[in-house]
Amino acid sequence: MNWLLVPLFSGLFLSARSVGIAPRVLILNMFSDEANVWYNIPEFNVLAKNISVPGLSPLFPEVHCTKNGSICQLTTGEGEINAASTVAALLHSPAFDLRTTYFLIAGIAGVNPKVTTIGSVTFARYAVQVALQFEIDAREIPANFPTGYFPQGTTAPGQYPRSLYGTEVFEVNEKLRQLAFQLAKTAEPQLNDTTDSRAARAPYLTAPQFAAAGGSPSVVLCDTATSDTFWSGTLLAEAFENTTKLFTNQSAEYCTTQQEDNATLNALLRGALTKTIDFSRIIVMRSGSNFDRPPPGESAVANLLGPGPGFVPSVLNLHIAGVKIVQAIVSRWKDFEGGVKATNYIGDIFGSLGGKPDFGPGNIFSGKVANFSYEAQ
Ligand SMILES: *[C@@H]1O[C@H](CO)[C@@H](O)[C@H](O)[C@H]1NC(C)=O
Ligand SMILES: *[C@@H]1O[C@H](CO)[C@@H](O)[C@H](O)[C@H]1NC(C)=O
Ligand SMILES: *[C@@H]1O[C@H](CO)[C@@H](O)[C@H](O)[C@H]1NC(C)=O
Ligand SMILES: *[C@@H]1O[C@H](CO)[C@@H](O)[C@H](O)[C@H]1NC(C)=O
Ligand SMILES: *[C@@H]1O[C@H](CO)[C@@H](O)[C@H](O)[C@H]1NC(C)=O
Ligand SMILES: *[C@@H]1O[C@H](CO)[C@@H](O)[C@H](O)[C@H]1NC(C)=O
Ligand SMILES: *[C@@H]1O[C@H](CO)[C@@H](O)[C@H](O)[C@H]1NC(C)=O
Repeated sequence: MNWLLVPLFSGLFLSARSVGIAPRVLILNMFSDEANVWYNIPEFNVLAKNISVPGLSPLFPEVHCTKNGSICQLTTGEGEINAASTVAALLHSPAFDLRTTYFLIAGIAGVNPKVTTIGSVTFARYAVQVALQFEIDAREIPANFPTGYFPQGTTAPGQYPRSLYGTEVFEVNEKLRQLAFQLAKTAEPQLNDTTDSRAARAPYLTAPQFAAAGGSPSVVLCDTATSDTFWSGTLLAEAFENTTKLFTNQSAEYCTTQQEDNATLNALLRGALTKTIDFSRIIVMRSGSNFDRPPPGESAVANLLGPGPGFVPSVLNLHIAGVKIVQAIVSRWKDFEGGVKATNYIGDIFGSLGGKPDFGPGNIFSGKVANFSYEAQ
């Protein structure tokens, strides 16, 4: 059977743009170890169809799909630039019709020991680009600055940014997040853990504020921070906790740090403006692979350069928890096909998709959708 014709059988509305594969779920990983946990698994085979798409990362030049195209997987490459470029290229590919696709961002992350622990699987409502700021080296900061980072257009840490690029904050569908959380939660008893991870958690228990770091891996609702810089340490962690709160007008609770999500979300937002994708169908899942700061008595550099004891459970748990979401969407498609209607604001800090963000300057397009959108031809 010609796979280009598969959408004909999947009950999708057909138009001139819908000749491509129309995945029900597209899993987005950032590098090989995150991707490998989706290959050679009992549930489905995403290596049955490989589709080359011009503009993907040369390291990961193909989108991988099941034979019937209902589940696909793509590795973006790491860092904000690779993530944005790969997703933008995918959105422009005529090989795909992504208008009803659910996007599952599935990656590992540094984790805030005040909120949860290594091995845990988290679902974010807010993604904050915390390093999109002014920075001066800590050795040169004024005596009254608690950190070398301060928002663009401001004169000191803690002031709301006066110069926004638009990618500072993204908010995704809260109702879909809750649904994904409940589905992943069914896998909680099966989450992987290792003796190395357990040993790495123990030192955090000497500090009461890190009690959450001592638990077993669990499924958690909390927000994510994006920075190209792979940072570590208590002071930067506290600075970015502050930034996350500041940029979202106190709404977000920072728990994971990673290098791509705001970039991926920005590319998807551009796709939503051209009606190539539906921004209400995005799930941001991040599992904890390492702590963002050391336990009491250890240095920031030792934490950063240590053995990474949470790595094995963090990659395994992306599949263990995430597959429940993938399977539910694919098998209960009649419940998902029409979308999960968002009741919260979704989109970027400018209000580009319409509606009124509860952070930033409000909707800068007079409360409407940004005028560079156009109807599908
Ligand atoms: C397509 O394949 C997936 C996984 O192999 C399977 O779960 C699903 O039932 C199949 N059919 C449709 C219409 O998605
Ligand atoms: C798809 O690519 C993977 C390697 O990335 C390979 O193992 C698999 O055999 C390929 N599938 C097909 C149908 O060629
Ligand atoms: C990045 O995206 C997250 C989640 O969507 C959002 O909470 C966060 O505010 C964004 N950060 C920036 C700086 O745009
Ligand atoms: C986690 O995975 C590792 C590596 O496959 C394995 O050795 C260990 O037994 C697993 N632990 C649990 C609790 O499943
Ligand atoms: C974070 O914010 C708190 C409260 O405003 C402040 O006391 C602290 O110095 C800030 N920390 C850093 C590292 O910026
Ligand atoms: C968010 O906080 C900033 C700084 O206090 C303020 O200027 C802005 O109006 C707030 N945004 C919303 C939507 O309340
Ligand atoms: C949107 O942009 C087009 C082309 O520049 C213009 O003709 C139209 O008036 C604009 N619409 C609104 C509502 O601003």
